[in-house]
Amino acid sequence: MMQSDFNPQPDELATAHRQAATQHIHDLIREAGGALSFDRFMEEALYAPGLGYYVAGASKFGATGDFLTAPESGSLFAKCLAREIEGLLDVIPGAQIIEFGAGTGRLAEDLLRALSQNHQLPSAYRIMELSPDLQRQQKERLEPLARELGIQVQWLSEMPAERVDGIMLANEVVDAFPVTRFRVEKNRIRRARVRIEGEGVDWDWTEDLLADGAEFEIAQAHNLPDGYESEVCPRASAWVRELANTLRRGAILIIDYGYPAEEYYLPDRAQGTLRCHYRHQAHNDPFRLIGLQDITCHVNFSQLSDAAQSSGLSVLGYTSQEAYLLSLGLLDFASFTNTDDERTRIAKAQEVKRLVLPSQMGESFKVLALGKGAGISLDGFSLRDRTLSL
Ligand SMILES: C[S@@+](CC[C@H](N)C(=O)[O-])C[C@H]1O[C@@H](n2cnc3c(N)ncnc32)[C@H](O)[C@@H]1O
Repeated sequence: MMQSDFNPQPDELATAHRQAATQHIHDLIREAGGALSFDRFMEEALYAPGLGYYVAGASKFGATGDFLTAPESGSLFAKCLAREIEGLLDVIPGAQIIEFGAGTGRLAEDLLRALSQNHQLPSAYRIMELSPDLQRQQKERLEPLARELGIQVQWLSEMPAERVDGIMLANEVVDAFPVTRFRVEKNRIRRARVRIEGEGVDWDWTEDLLADGAEFEIAQAHNLPDGYESEVCPRASAWVRELANTLRRGAILIIDYGYPAEEYYLPDRAQGTLRCHYRHQAHNDPFRLIGLQDITCHVNFSQLSDAAQSSGLSVLGYTSQEAYLLSLGLLDFASFTNTDDERTRIAKAQEVKRLVLPSQMGESFKVLALGKGAGISLDGFSLRDRTLSL
């Protein structure tokens, strides 16, 4: 949306929170000598203890929050994933599930219920969640369920020390990793930083024109013109390498909005993909509502696939969310809920549309599956596999 159309009016409490979060950023900028790198700013705006967007307690998901994720819009998404996971549990003895960034715990709950109905529970369901506030919500939801189903649900503060057999899941997590932002100038690179501007903050660009580093390589590889601005997420590669080291045998499903590198760095996308979400409105000013709004970037799936392959994982498939969920029987699951209740029918139809229509989540969201070990195959790529586009 146009910046001028975005005119939110947070209440007093939210305003006090924004001021405290902005003050915290000011302190960090001063400590850093006048400018903070953009990735550090993003990390603090999202995760600073007690102040960052993901850790400060306000409702984020659903109608009263800022955005709606696929698992939060109903149980169909989880039912499709459960079908894929059942196939993997069949061939990986003792497999566990590790979910990254589990939000409200809704996906975990719906997955475990679907798996238990088919008597296919994993040996354990483990969650890695950065936000203490979301972890608390997840525990409230999942601890009673764990007792009901007789399954271990655990929260991890770091990657397991031992190597694991199983399935790793990350839905809309990588888009929340801090990114570095850059601008191309005279075939060189300036990196974005953040400086104090009055009571708020503003962009600041490094003095040096860099002729090396990841951003420079991207600018060269995609022939980016002067003035082009975009992002790169080195942490996403580091994270994939960590998963590769931890997984002994199994699969990793990464679902998020994003593109292959060729599309990510298209000449037309000259302002990058940085987006902020507040109360179901999207705009691109990360400095507006510090601590109150989500800040995200699209995912470069080629980068994840390269990091995976160089660390011993293979790419098992890459496709749109639409093709993935339809391959796994989305329409069958939707028709099981056939009912005379008009409201339920309309809600299900809306859920299906939201998940698969290209104008909604169907095309912008992609599924990347990575794997390790013999005999790991997936059903979700049977309709269409676009691995060659990575
Ligand atoms: C947009 S929410 C998605 C939540 C949930 N997966 C869903 O689909 O509803 C992003 C989640 O990722 C978590 N997160 C971000 N970075 C993370 C990381 N490095 N490790 C684990 N969780 C992370 C956030 O705290 C939040 O729970």
